[in-house]
Amino acid sequence: MRVLGIETSCDETGLAIYDSEQGLLGHVLHSQIDLHAVYGGVVPELASRDHVRKTLPLLHNLLAQTGLAKSDIDGVAYTAGPGLVGALLVGTAIGRTLAWAWGVPAVGVHHMEGHLLAPMLEPERPEFPFVALLVSGGHTQLVEVKGIGQYRLLGESLDDAAGEAFDKTAKMMGLPYPGGPELAALALSGDPKRFRFPRPMTDRPGLDFSFSGLKTFALNTLQREITPQDSEATKQQTRADIARAFEEAVVDTLVIKCRRAVRDSGAATLVLAGGVSANRQLRERMQVAMGKEGARVFYPRTEFCTDNGAMIAYAGWQRLRQGAHEDLGFGVRARWPM
Ligand code: KG4
Ligand code: ZN
Repeated sequence: MRVLGIETSCDETGLAIYDSEQGLLGHVLHSQIDLHAVYGGVVPELASRDHVRKTLPLLHNLLAQTGLAKSDIDGVAYTAGPGLVGALLVGTAIGRTLAWAWGVPAVGVHHMEGHLLAPMLEPERPEFPFVALLVSGGHTQLVEVKGIGQYRLLGESLDDAAGEAFDKTAKMMGLPYPGGPELAALALSGDPKRFRFPRPMTDRPGLDFSFSGLKTFALNTLQREITPQDSEATKQQTRADIARAFEEAVVDTLVIKCRRAVRDSGAATLVLAGGVSANRQLRERMQVAMGKEGARVFYPRTEFCTDNGAMIAYAGWQRLRQGAHEDLGFGVRARWPM
C-alpha cells in the first residue's frame, strides 16, 4: 500500500509517499520561514495562503521525483489537527479532494501522532512499549506508548511548550525567527558556568513541565547583565552565556523528567520527537542519562524532527491499514487531545 501524506498544520508544506513494503519513497518540503521572518513569527493567514500556492506544485514534484503516477497511490493522509485552523483546512481540503478524485480512502492524522511515530521511518526502529517525549513548538508531552493508537499522557507543560520558550527567549535576545535553532547555535559559544537557571518543577513529584518562568528568568538576567557601557563584543558574549544557561536548564529539566518517567514505567526505550528533538545538547544528554537507566534512545533524523510530510504518510498508513477512513464531510481541530 502506498500512502500520500500531506502536512500543512503550521509553517511548512510537506508531502511524502510511504510504501508499506519499501518504506519512504520520497518527500518534499517547502518552509515558509522567509515569508514570516519579517513579522518575527507565523502569520496564520499568510501561512494558509502559501499552503494553497505550494501544495499541488509540491505534489507534482514528488510524483516526478519518485517516478510514480496518481494511480499508484492507494490512500491519502493529511494532518487534521492540532494546528492553525486555516492552514489545516488547506491540507484537509486538498487531501480529501485528491482521495475522492482518485477513488482511494483518506484519513485525517493527529499531528503529534505523526511526530511520535517519526522514528519508525529510520532503519533501526523502537519497539513497543516505550515512553515518548514530544517536544515541539506547540507541545511538551510525556506519553506512554503501548502500540499504535494506545497512548497515555503521563505529563505535559502547564504553560509554554519547550519550543515556544526557546522561540520567545530567542526573540527577546534579538535573534531571528524561528529562534530555537538560532538560540542553540548562539549557546555553543556561551560559558556554561557564568549563569545557572532554575530547573522548573523538578523538585516536586510528577511529570508535568512549566517553561514560561525560564523565559522571564532569561529576560531579567538580560536586563541586569547587559549595560549600555558594555562593548558590542561583551554584550554578545553575555547573550551567548544566557543562551547557554537557558538551553542547559531546558535540556536538564527534560532529561530529569524522562529519567523519572522511564523509572516509573519500567520502560526500556525512550523516543524523542518533535522540533526540539533536533537539539544536539538534548540528544547527547538524553543518550547519557538513558544509558544510566539501562534504556535506549530513538529519535528521527534531524529533518524529520521538525514538521514534514513523511511522518504524516507513515502515521496515515498505520491508521488506514487498521481500517480507519473518513466519510465525505470533513472538519479540522485546532486543539485535539491525542
Ligand atoms: O515540530 P515542529 O517543527 O513544529 C511544531 O509542531 O510546533 O517544532 C518547531 C519547534 C520550534 O519551536 C523550533 O524553535 C524548535 O522546534 N526547534 C529547536 C531546534 N530546532 C527546532 N529548538 C531548540 N533547538 C533546536 N535545534
Ligand atoms: Zn510539529
